[in-house]
Amino acid sequence: MSRPDSVATPIVALDEVHLRLDSAAGPVNILRGLNLRVDAGERVGVVGPSGSGKSTMMMVMAGLERPTGGSVRVADQDLGALDEDGLARFRRDHVGIVFQAFHLVPTMTALENVAIPLEFAGAADAFDRAREGLVAVGLGHRLTHYPGQLSGGEQQRVALARAFVAEPSLLLADEPTGNLDIDTGSTIVELLFDLAERRGTTLVLITHDPALAERCDRTVRLMDGRIADDGHAARAERVRVAGD
Ligand SMILES: Nc1ncnc2c1ncn2[C@@H]1O[C@H](COP(=O)(O)OP(=O)(O)OP(=O)(O)O)[C@@H](O)[C@H]1O
Ligand SMILES: [Mg+2]
Repeated sequence: MSRPDSVATPIVALDEVHLRLDSAAGPVNILRGLNLRVDAGERVGVVGPSGSGKSTMMMVMAGLERPTGGSVRVADQDLGALDEDGLARFRRDHVGIVFQAFHLVPTMTALENVAIPLEFAGAADAFDRAREGLVAVGLGHRLTHYPGQLSGGEQQRVALARAFVAEPSLLLADEPTGNLDIDTGSTIVELLFDLAERRGTTLVLITHDPALAERCDRTVRLMDGRIADDGHAARAERVRVAGD
């Protein structure tokens, strides 16, 4: 990977992204001039102190939060130019999201939870593909269980299956193992990397675990709503050492 960044087409391009929210205590500047490029197929770990803006950056990339300044391009779309319907279509077509707290619909079975994004997309084979997705994460025997009848690790596997089922080009994961014990967490991590690898999915993975960030192609560090380190120098050094 010796191509200069200017040549590769980024799947994510954040330029001078600002997000300022008005809270009861006055305005809060959450993102303060964020610049980041992620290439297609790249796996990027995102680290940084609590409150540095990691989850907010993910919401901006997913078009779930509109920045108050700067531009966001994802999968060749300028998110600022899309209205709410456009953003919903953009997410449906391009983005999978895994939240720390699973975010499954409690009144739907595992199968229904995974089938939802496909049904929204009008896929006739939504349930067949959802079943395949659940089998791929080892939950073929839990299709008709409700989230409340599943363990934490199983719920997170359903959430992974749901995030991957529409074959997104970009998968955003916010501390996907944060609520799980170490063994279950590492199973989820293996599944995540394995699914991403098989489908060539670009991965943006927020984590507090340095070992997990290490597994990515590079690690981006946020500090105070800005990128303190985009990981390119460290990555170039790793590539150089590996080539010696
Ligand atoms: N709706 C809001 N109104 C005001 N401030 C907010 C709001 N949402 C987030 N913040 C603030 O923005 C900052 C960044 O929050 P964010 O959730 O992105 O941090 P984070 O890096 O993901 O932290 P953690 O590692 O704890 O998950 C925090 O200081 C938070 O208090
Ligand atoms: Mg967070």
